[in-house]
Amino acid sequence: MKIIRTLYDMTEYRVQQRDRGASVGFVPTMGALHEGHMSLVKKAVEENMVTVVSVFVNPIQFNNKEDFAKYPRTEEEDFKLLASAGVDAVFAPTAEEIYPEENCDNKEYALGTVAEVMEGKYRPGHFQGVARVLDILFRLVDPHRAYFGEKDFQQIAVVRNLVKSEGLKVEIVACPIKRANDGLALSSRNSRLSEEQRKAAPEIYETLKYSVEYSKDHSVRATHDTVVEHLDAIPGMRVEYFQIVDARTLQPVEEWEMSDWIVGCITVYVGDVRLIDNITYRTPH
Ligand code: PAF
Repeated sequence: MKIIRTLYDMTEYRVQQRDRGASVGFVPTMGALHEGHMSLVKKAVEENMVTVVSVFVNPIQFNNKEDFAKYPRTEEEDFKLLASAGVDAVFAPTAEEIYPEENCDNKEYALGTVAEVMEGKYRPGHFQGVARVLDILFRLVDPHRAYFGEKDFQQIAVVRNLVKSEGLKVEIVACPIKRANDGLALSSRNSRLSEEQRKAAPEIYETLKYSVEYSKDHSVRATHDTVVEHLDAIPGMRVEYFQIVDARTLQPVEEWEMSDWIVGCITVYVGDVRLIDNITYRTPH
């Protein structure tokens, strides 16, 4: 596996792959890899001649300095995992390499209303930061396909809008959430949970699952409230938001009949660790 650190070397690698007509799959990550990431990598390896993975903790998508400082970094282990999964190249640049002073153009991306709700509202600037780094990475790696996990349900909708508005030629592949045996959605942030918090955290998914049953004979409002009340009552847990939304527009629904595809997206603080998850209430037939 090739380890690439500079934009120049990445471009050179990409040109080599293009010259030999290779299809390229790309998995952008911030490292601290777990089975969720590895399921994206596996799919990319299966579907493309060459797989490139980026490992870059993108400073400009963190609206909270402490969250950025505490984000787990496990580069050596990450590289071992990627090599054993058959990845061809890992791109792990420094922040100076991605954002040199002369590249501070503060471009505003047209991401649409899907970027204004939920994470967009609670993490100001987050999606512009994600869009900036992906714009740079997509242009550099120039992949045929890029793989994203559905745990970040909203991010996928935002990335699709980025691709459309920037006229980028990459297919966005959405992959199902990977969960631990007890149901907790896998996340790099799980490693920051204490033993006690880790024991409590599966209650997030348990509550979401229960709410799907509950929703069958209750209103959207009642389903929302039961989830929030249940989780807020657990010591050390605080729901930042829970929104039941149309899965295409990500705008809130007030009645189950308002859409044929409805998901509930949640963000919960367990101590000071911010975890996200989602569940489907209605799927189109
Ligand atoms: O989902 C993530 O890990 C990040 O938002 C991404 C897509 C790698 C951009 O930094």
